Amino acid sequence: MSTVKLLIDGKDHEFRVIEGSEGEKGFDIASLRAATGYITLDPGYGNTGACKSAITFIDGDKGILRYRGYPIEELAESARFPEVCHLLVYDHLPNRDELMEWRRQLTLNSYVHEAMVNVFDSFPPHAHPMAILSAMVSSMSAFYPEANTPETLDMAIMYLLAKAKTIAAYSYRKSRGEPTMYPLSDLSYVANFLRMMFGHPAEPYEVSPVIERAMGLLLILHADHEQNCSTSTVRMVGSSQANLFAAISAGICALWGPLHGGANQAVIEMLERIEADGGDYKKYIKMAKDKDSGFRLMGFGHRVYKNFDPRARILKKACDEVLGELGITDPLLDIAKHLEEAALKDDFFIERKLYPNVDFYSGIIYRAIGIPTNMFTVMFALGRLPGWIAHFREMRMERGERIHRPRQIYTGATQRKWVPLDER
Ligand code: SDX
Repeated sequence: MSTVKLLIDGKDHEFRVIEGSEGEKGFDIASLRAATGYITLDPGYGNTGACKSAITFIDGDKGILRYRGYPIEELAESARFPEVCHLLVYDHLPNRDELMEWRRQLTLNSYVHEAMVNVFDSFPPHAHPMAILSAMVSSMSAFYPEANTPETLDMAIMYLLAKAKTIAAYSYRKSRGEPTMYPLSDLSYVANFLRMMFGHPAEPYEVSPVIERAMGLLLILHADHEQNCSTSTVRMVGSSQANLFAAISAGICALWGPLHGGANQAVIEMLERIEADGGDYKKYIKMAKDKDSGFRLMGFGHRVYKNFDPRARILKKACDEVLGELGITDPLLDIAKHLEEAALKDDFFIERKLYPNVDFYSGIIYRAIGIPTNMFTVMFALGRLPGWIAHFREMRMERGERIHRPRQIYTGATQRKWVPLDER
């Protein structure tokens, strides 16, 4: 067994090296504080591994992303979203019979408890759909107590995967004062979602194959991404033995931030701002380089990818294909391409290894599909759901998983005496 040595206060301490299946190395510091009295400090956890995981592998320098060993490019090309859900959660691509049954269960469980439908009416008309989604997912532990036990985790997994798209569609319909649409048993996961979003109860809804394929691609590309902020949140909450619905609801809230999943909405708002400003993208490149401007190029940069985000590459190509097939021209796409071109030639971005990430082009396709901007992060959450669930389940299957409880370095006041009110 290989080890590393740390010389602390004149004494050598050895720590076991852990090597992953792709050659990633770390050393196990579980005994550090007991042995040395020291802890490590790593704000943002950029150098700290929280766990071992067999779900997703990312190589940020080579732009590699694989779900359970399958390259994202192959899954994007050939897989359907329900297959990717099964692969991530249960670690194997379903055979034909398994896939038929999996799809049947996803459809049969698509309905939500009728009492939940009324809860939607209690939200104010302009409530952000992410607030609704996180609240409704958390409420599932109340509406489905039978799925709320360790023994019924698979039931909770199926309920979440099947009902989340219905909840998302309902939040959209309610925000427009439109009647909710119930899922149909003869439609695919994506087609059902599109019909519940855009269909009309009084007439048949034709699902465009172009849009169905684009929607499926977006869901697959967002399905997992190892220990990102929201997935780490799901693991953190799940580590206290909280139920799956509570942990996923917390993940939805973490995803909402504009530095994370909220970036896809922020990108479109940024592109619209540039368009309204006469399309002067060079002005915004300049602002992004000026720390005092408080402006960031949304959709650019990544903690892990330092050459390119493979998902952004796939999405950039898909933008042209989807808009072309739908006969749509979107000026925001032209602005996005100009921004990318200018930034990739600019030393500020090159030195900081800032490239377009998954959020840079996704919003253009969501717009082409007709998804409103404030629903973009909900779409990210629908895609990321199987990944969150897979990590929650992997942690639950891990014997002896401990509650996550980081330490800190205290920098506050040292001990001082109480001061009575009249002496302050
Ligand atoms: C996602 O983790 C994941 O895997 C996330 C995700 C997933 O699938 O789950 O991939 C999804 O969240 C993608 C990221 C979406 N967010 C954005 O697009 C928001 C804009 N990007 C950034 O705010 C930033 O790049 C982050 C949040 C993505 C990464 O933040 P880091 O790793 O903490 O980097 P940093 O803020 O320390 O920046 C390093 C330097 C700084 O400059 P210096 O202080 O070194 O001079 O780069 C600069 C930053 O100011 N910088 C940017 C920038 N991003 C970083 N400058 C201008 N525009 C940007 N977008």
